[in-house]
Amino acid sequence: MAWKKIAEKSEIESGKGKAFKIDGKQIAVFNQDGFHAMDDLCVHQDGSIAPGKLEGNIVECPLHFWKYNIKTGELVDYLKDIKLETYQVQSRDDGLYVDI
Ligand code: FES
Repeated sequence: MAWKKIAEKSEIESGKGKAFKIDGKQIAVFNQDGFHAMDDLCVHQDGSIAPGKLEGNIVECPLHFWKYNIKTGELVDYLKDIKLETYQVQSRDDGLYVDI
């Protein structure tokens, strides 16, 4: 694990998420109650979760509306015990860093 810069702080509007590619991974970073990062590809059919609708901690995959908790990566509502990997995020003076 190492801290890597993933985005400028201004790139992600409050209440929204955005997908970034880094080190061969596609990661969703959300600006909701602080910054949160998790794998961006939905376990259902690899949809990009980042642009999904956010309500509190829950984001809805835009393709078929499976829901994930952006803080824990857990899939909610459907299958149990499925979890996307989450990453710590630090907001530094020069941008957002994730520990990947
Ligand atoms: S790809 Fe996410 S719900 Fe189908």
